[in-house]
Amino acid sequence: MANVQFKNLFKNYGDVKAVHDFNLDIAEGEFIVLVGPSGCGKSTTLRMIAGLEDITSGHIYIDDKFINKIHPKNRDIAMVFQNYALYPHLSVKDNISFGLRAQKLPRSEIEKRVIEASETLGLEGLLLRRPGELSGGQKQRVAMGRAIVRKPKVFLFDEPLSNLDAKLRHKMRAEMKKLHKQVGTTTIYVTHDQIEAMTLADRIVIMKDGLIEQVGSPNEVYKSPNNIFVASFIGTPAMNFIEGKVNNVSKASSIIGLVDRKTLKLKKGNLNTNQDIILGLRPEDISVTNKKLTNSKDDIEIDAEISVIEPMGHETVVICESNYGEITGKVESNTNLKEGMNVKLSVCQDNIYLFDKNSQKNLSL
Ligand SMILES: Nc1ncnc2c1ncn2[C@@H]1O[C@H](COP(=O)(O)OP(=O)(O)OP(=O)(O)O)[C@@H](O)[C@H]1O
Ligand SMILES: [Mg+2]
Repeated sequence: MANVQFKNLFKNYGDVKAVHDFNLDIAEGEFIVLVGPSGCGKSTTLRMIAGLEDITSGHIYIDDKFINKIHPKNRDIAMVFQNYALYPHLSVKDNISFGLRAQKLPRSEIEKRVIEASETLGLEGLLLRRPGELSGGQKQRVAMGRAIVRKPKVFLFDEPLSNLDAKLRHKMRAEMKKLHKQVGTTTIYVTHDQIEAMTLADRIVIMKDGLIEQVGSPNEVYKSPNNIFVASFIGTPAMNFIEGKVNNVSKASSIIGLVDRKTLKLKKGNLNTNQDIILGLRPEDISVTNKKLTNSKDDIEIDAEISVIEPMGHETVVICESNYGEITGKVESNTNLKEGMNVKLSVCQDNIYLFDKNSQKNLSL
């Protein structure tokens, strides 16, 4: 186990700024997830820690030791890739022990670690098979086995579950969490799947265009997103956004003008007259009803028509058309709502997020 620090890390490929001024302190034993859309620099960051990519500038420390110049082999980290990179001609056992044999560890020690890892990962019955005779999930576990037998200071994972079907991905996600509890090794995990990020991470690092947009616990990035990008990236279905302009500001409240000339009185202060703002509504905070509303007059109310209903089992996603464009709500499944129905959407004042349109920053923080 080790701590990991990144100080002012940059990576350019010619004109492409793949990673831009990346700063992060990772505590010993922490499970960090790097998440963000394709091309935002997640893999590049991971590959720089592993030593598979040159660093343009900046410093990386593992266990307080400066490692930029240390050979990948001597960094004491283990990486699991998306494609698992198993040796097809070797048995599961030999794949798992490959790194240990290269390190010339005593045979008894190798044997002991392989048995331990295969018990942890439920691979006992498969040790003599070759990768070609394994399912995707089993291959993934072999790749994990190869990483854990090395007892590295840090685990690096680059989208290790993305080749699995949804059910297996869910199962392996839980296995991954259990494994981390058991071995406690500092882990940096890359994914573009925000649900994976939310469920696995102690802290999530949300990246966009090579930059860190926010670092925080799953709860922090969900409840208090720094900006519109984070707000729209975290949460499914994504947050809804409505544009507005501040008409009037008093000490206690602000009057917001919306596109259809409706106004909304917000308790939240700290706004300027004529400021362009964006309201954020989480689908799970929206009530959808075809009955008369009995809400407080300060809550937001929107007339809408249901265009699509998506039953998800215990919840139902309701996509509606309104004067503010498409708005998606998420409601309990025992609903009488139907496609084509005219409904009222409402969100309690306290659950409305408020962003500045120009800076995109969250004004509620
Ligand atoms: N070897 C390379 N040469 C030139 N540009 C590269 C190279 N590798 C990556 N890039 C560019 O650097 C940026 C970051 O790439 P990176 O692979 O880190 O993204 P990522 O976040 O891992 O994306 P994905 O989710 O698609 O795997 C991208 O714009 C990519 O095109
Ligand atoms: Mg990648």
